[in-house]
Amino acid sequence: MLSNNEKLIAVIGATGQQGGAVVRALQAGSQFKVRALSRNPGKHRKLAEEVVEADLDRPETLKAAFEGAHGVFLVTNFGEEGTDELKQATAAVRAAKDAGVKHFVWSTLPNVEAISGGKFHVPHFTGKAKVDRLVKEAGFANHTFVIAPFYYQNLVGVLAPQRQADGSLGWALPLDPDVRCIHMGDIAELGNIVAAAFAHVDEAGNGEYLPLVGDFMSFNEIVDTLNRQGHKLSFKQVPKEVFAGLFPGAAEIAEMLSYFQAHTYLGSDSSDRIALANKIAGAEPTKFSTWARLNVPVERPTRNPVPARS
Ligand SMILES: NC(=O)c1ccc[n+]([C@@H]2O[C@H](COP(=O)([O-])OP(=O)(O)OC[C@H]3O[C@@H](n4cnc5c(N)ncnc54)[C@H](OP(=O)(O)O)[C@@H]3O)[C@@H](O)[C@H]2O)c1
Repeated sequence: MLSNNEKLIAVIGATGQQGGAVVRALQAGSQFKVRALSRNPGKHRKLAEEVVEADLDRPETLKAAFEGAHGVFLVTNFGEEGTDELKQATAAVRAAKDAGVKHFVWSTLPNVEAISGGKFHVPHFTGKAKVDRLVKEAGFANHTFVIAPFYYQNLVGVLAPQRQADGSLGWALPLDPDVRCIHMGDIAELGNIVAAAFAHVDEAGNGEYLPLVGDFMSFNEIVDTLNRQGHKLSFKQVPKEVFAGLFPGAAEIAEMLSYFQAHTYLGSDSSDRIALANKIAGAEPTKFSTWARLNVPVERPTRNPVPARS
């Protein structure tokens, strides 16, 4: 039997936030060998010991990508134009089975359709949940589901505060800011849970769901946390219909926020799952306030320029 440090884990999305976190955690643990996968391996040679081509839209590339791998981490990128998550995941599961992969870890999200009884339609959540059955029924010796949270990074990225009509910097969203409903986390810490799942198959390799959750907050708590650190951010609740028409993709964000408000991000009490994820990872994930202090710089007002002498 191979010892862990001879076992190879192939990581899809290795150049991105989730897969990158998995690569770094596996390297830090030095229990497994890592094969980083990318559509452009030539551009990322230093990412890992092995960097190999894999394109989920070209299943023929996956045979070599998974060859000899003990484990596979799969994330699909809903945000990339033209991505069909079910088709990509089907190709990856099939190729992993054919290659004799023993442990498959899939980065999933809750089934919004099922949780809300069909009331909310959030394809980038439900589409991932629909892959779970494929992974479960593929017959891998071990399989694990990890659930990425609402990334803290969104608040300095895709959902960064914007200049509002009243001149303040902040958010105008279709969400009741008093409702504590957002399971959040530093996505860079997802790797700790994934690496731990590969290492602890008895505890986490039998279809367990492992969410990364650093904090569970309302939007007012997010804003208050940042403002206590010196920011001056505002929040305004706006009607869903108004927000949905503001930019391409806004309707799905609005729908997602309505789902959060009604059911929370994870959709149900997940304390046992969170506890298991933290136990196997051996650490509590970073709280939002700690992360924000390091990652959300406070804008200092620019000093008045010294008047030029005439
Ligand atoms: N933002 C959030 O709060 C949040 C929360 C939960 C889940 N998510 C989900 O996270 C996913 C995105 O993950 P991320 O944040 O890690 O993305 P990311 O940082 O944008 O990176 C995307 C990765 O996907 C890879 N990729 C894209 N298309 C591919 C293809 N056809 N074949 C192989 N690899 C492909 C890219 O690799 P190369 O370019 O190197 O090939 C890259 O490494 C989305 O599906 C989103 O729904 C996001």
